[in-house]
Amino acid sequence: MEHNSTSYQDRIKDFDWSISEKELGYKRGDVLNIGWYCSDRICQMGKADKLALVWENSAGEERKFTYNDVRRTSNSIGAYLRSLGIKDGDRVCLFMDKIPELYIGFLGVLKIGAIAQPLFSAFGDESLFVRLKDAGTRAIITQRKHVSKVRKILAQLPSLERIIVVDHDGKKPLQEKEVAFSIYDGKGVESLDIFPTTAESPSVLHYTSGTTGQPKGVKHVHYSLISQYLTAKWVLDLKDSDIYWCTADPGWVTGTSYGIIAPFALGVTQCVQDVGFSAEGWYKFIEKCKVTVWYSAPTAIRSLMKAGDEAVKKYNMSSLRHLCSVGEPLNSEAVIWSERVFGLPFHDTYWQTETGSIMITNLPGMKVKPGSMGRAFPGITATVLDIHTSEPITSPGKVGLIAIKPGWPSMMRAYWNNEHAYKGKFKNNWYLPGDRSSIDSDGYFWFAGRDDDIINTGGHLVSPFEVESALLEHESVAESAVVAKPDQINMEVVKAFVSLKPGFNPSGDLELEIMNFIRKKLSPLAMPQEIEYVKSLPKTRSGKIMRRLLRAKEWGQEIGDTSTLEDDE
Ligand code: WTA
Repeated sequence: MEHNSTSYQDRIKDFDWSISEKELGYKRGDVLNIGWYCSDRICQMGKADKLALVWENSAGEERKFTYNDVRRTSNSIGAYLRSLGIKDGDRVCLFMDKIPELYIGFLGVLKIGAIAQPLFSAFGDESLFVRLKDAGTRAIITQRKHVSKVRKILAQLPSLERIIVVDHDGKKPLQEKEVAFSIYDGKGVESLDIFPTTAESPSVLHYTSGTTGQPKGVKHVHYSLISQYLTAKWVLDLKDSDIYWCTADPGWVTGTSYGIIAPFALGVTQCVQDVGFSAEGWYKFIEKCKVTVWYSAPTAIRSLMKAGDEAVKKYNMSSLRHLCSVGEPLNSEAVIWSERVFGLPFHDTYWQTETGSIMITNLPGMKVKPGSMGRAFPGITATVLDIHTSEPITSPGKVGLIAIKPGWPSMMRAYWNNEHAYKGKFKNNWYLPGDRSSIDSDGYFWFAGRDDDIINTGGHLVSPFEVESALLEHESVAESAVVAKPDQINMEVVKAFVSLKPGFNPSGDLELEIMNFIRKKLSPLAMPQEIEYVKSLPKTRSGKIMRRLLRAKEWGQEIGDTSTLEDDE
């Protein structure tokens, strides 16, 4: 149960990504297919009968898959997609709850060289539409409960040729373009010709929110495995004997990089719970599965804290040996609390959809400074740049823009169809994630907020632009501005300022109606938690709405000289 005690200094000395390539038995120029690495290779290593996935849902159903099951089942999904005419390079969307078909289907898509496009199953039809349209998605794998959202937008998506329903029960007839496929019919396919993808072949397309435009498709390649494997081994400290639980949904990058790819490529057993959050439900799950390594997020940790220490004491948490967190600032109270109740600190990890893997972190054994994100992962050169001059800051404690030297294996290769936005992420040969931080004299990063208007609610990024556009589609809304509002648990929630069209009057009922409108169209995450009616919105001289002014008011910050805000816009 001891942590790997290799020190940070030892890790960075002579660091080279070839460490990871060697462990994976990969040689440059070889075929490299994540689907194969995550199933066939583990079987070939003699772990065919080892449990890969232990799954349960809220109805108490439980399913277990060995690595051989994952191999055969992903083969059968790949073969089925091929039989439908899906080929390498095609985008296949995975639009499902956290069911086994999502985890295994992801590998099946990769095995045939197609591009996996996971989307959060709580997305409404509008959120789904813009992402499928931008990607020119050819097939979508979904469940009965979500198919109506696809039907609603199908006519406007000429590229979408197939809708694969994984739990069709025959009760209601399938409609246009729909086909039924169940992983539970038959035993899977013993052998599949795996498409010979190489390092730079596209693998995953994850959509992430932008501040100004529509969501951007972050294109990753199979070579990302090299980063994901080694960061999971060193940061999450995953070992053969571990039982791992990543609480993230594969609709988001944590759920694919560290909820599918890394744990399966390392051949560990992972547990998945397709159940809504409850503190006791989580503790029970840890006790039952004997989870050893747990990767979660600050909002969940804050919710657990709120449920109280007594709730923890009812369960046996002694299996836990290593805890990590991602997605939002991990406040020091959360680290101190976890040390008290679990006897273990949460280790913060900082990264984003575009980086594909952990960039800044606390490696096991490294001194954790509560409130700090830790240091750059070995092989990652990270600094902060002066906000005005873009020069690296040399004085400790001064806040600047986080900047990372491009070149690590899992870096995005493009924003789909958006070269302009991609280029905009670089300055002086640094990649800029869009966050602010300071660095202390020990090289620890201290997060200081985002550098844009994107709202991070419970670890999920929401674009104010997307919500504003959707609000304008409501019959009553003349103008809107959307900003983050502070929240004790979710850190930030969505708040909308709305001016109404003539003939509409502000009321509580209208507020609820508008909220619901957004929830259905976009998602529960994007739904404003509050709507404030205003006569007009503050604008710059060129007519742009000054979100930052509204945001500053919500956060009780000094607004200062608004003329500079205007010039900035
Ligand atoms: C934020 C999630 C503070 C940050 C993996 C980043 C964090 C965005 C941390 C990426 C952290 C992520 N501390 N903030 N440890 N980790 N963030 O693309 O603003 O969904 O740019 O990827 O979340 O969110 P994304």
